[in-house]
Amino acid sequence: MEKLNINKEIKKIEKELKNTIKSENPILEEASLHLLSSGGKRVRPSFVVLSSEYGLHPRNEETYKIAVSLELIHMATLVHDDVIDRSDKRRGRYTISKKWDQETAILTGNYLLALALNHISSIQDKRIHMILSNAIIDVCRGELFQFQDQFNTKQTITNYLRRINRKTALLIQLATELGALSADADLKTANKLKRIGHYIGMSFQIVDDVLDFTSTEKQLGKPVGSDLMNGHLTLPVLLERRKNPQFKALVDSLGPESPKEDFEYCVRYIRSSESIEQSKSISKHYLNKALDLLGELETSPASTWFKKLIKRMESRNT
Ligand code: IPE
Ligand code: IPE
Ligand code: MG
Ligand code: MG
Repeated sequence: MEKLNINKEIKKIEKELKNTIKSENPILEEASLHLLSSGGKRVRPSFVVLSSEYGLHPRNEETYKIAVSLELIHMATLVHDDVIDRSDKRRGRYTISKKWDQETAILTGNYLLALALNHISSIQDKRIHMILSNAIIDVCRGELFQFQDQFNTKQTITNYLRRINRKTALLIQLATELGALSADADLKTANKLKRIGHYIGMSFQIVDDVLDFTSTEKQLGKPVGSDLMNGHLTLPVLLERRKNPQFKALVDSLGPESPKEDFEYCVRYIRSSESIEQSKSISKHYLNKALDLLGELETSPASTWFKKLIKRMESRNT
């Protein structure tokens, strides 16, 4: 078997994604291609391929089908997330709503999801159909909780963790679990990889939420502080709010109609608060759990890549 090179694997999956989104309808194809060609880290397919290395038959046809399906599901959720948040920018480009219109964005999201289902239906192992459809349901629930919790001053850090587990960690956990299962890994190994994916996913969303405060518009590809402006209270805000009554009063008074300056003040406040470092250390705690579990698996070229990707995710700025 050819030596594992994750960058080469990603190229292969991107080619497959590009083929998959071809449509007789030029708008659906153009809008999907607009998102696909704007970049993206391809985190989920990378973990599918890597995890398959722990099975008897790494990188087989099923592995690639799962990798492509998960990236399509991810793309669909991004498109719909941008509709819900009325975002104008994603990955440094206009969102589909902005470049086309909201209706086109909703339909493109549906189209991408249907393409994922199409791909899934060609996977032999019926267990995987069930697991993936349940995952789509859970991601919807996570996004709905996020929507319901906008500007909700009653939410706790536990609510936050539950929400990010559903909307983000679950898909990454599936990447590692299904990657392993696709290659006929034993159940114990697949289960360990599933837990590794869970921890990576939790950390991943916390980093995403921290970057929303600490990064720059250029690096993020969208305006800084978007989460708070949309009423999404993420970990740095929830931590600061818990220990600082003055900040709590201020942030709890925010609503959709609040002046932009009030949001900007809160964003600046968080940026220079200790809650940023505290959030990063919680994220690191999850990553360390993933690394510990990884240490329990056999050392292989895959584990070197795993560690490399984990490090890359920790120090990423996009
Ligand atoms: C963004 O995911 C949404 C989250 C779940 C944090 P990614 O950070 O994987 O987005 P792309 O695909 O690289 O743009
Ligand atoms: C939502 O996460 C993406 C999904 C998991 C559906 P975010 O709202 O944090 O993603 P960005 O920051 O818009 O990329
Ligand atoms: Mg968003
Ligand atoms: Mg985000």
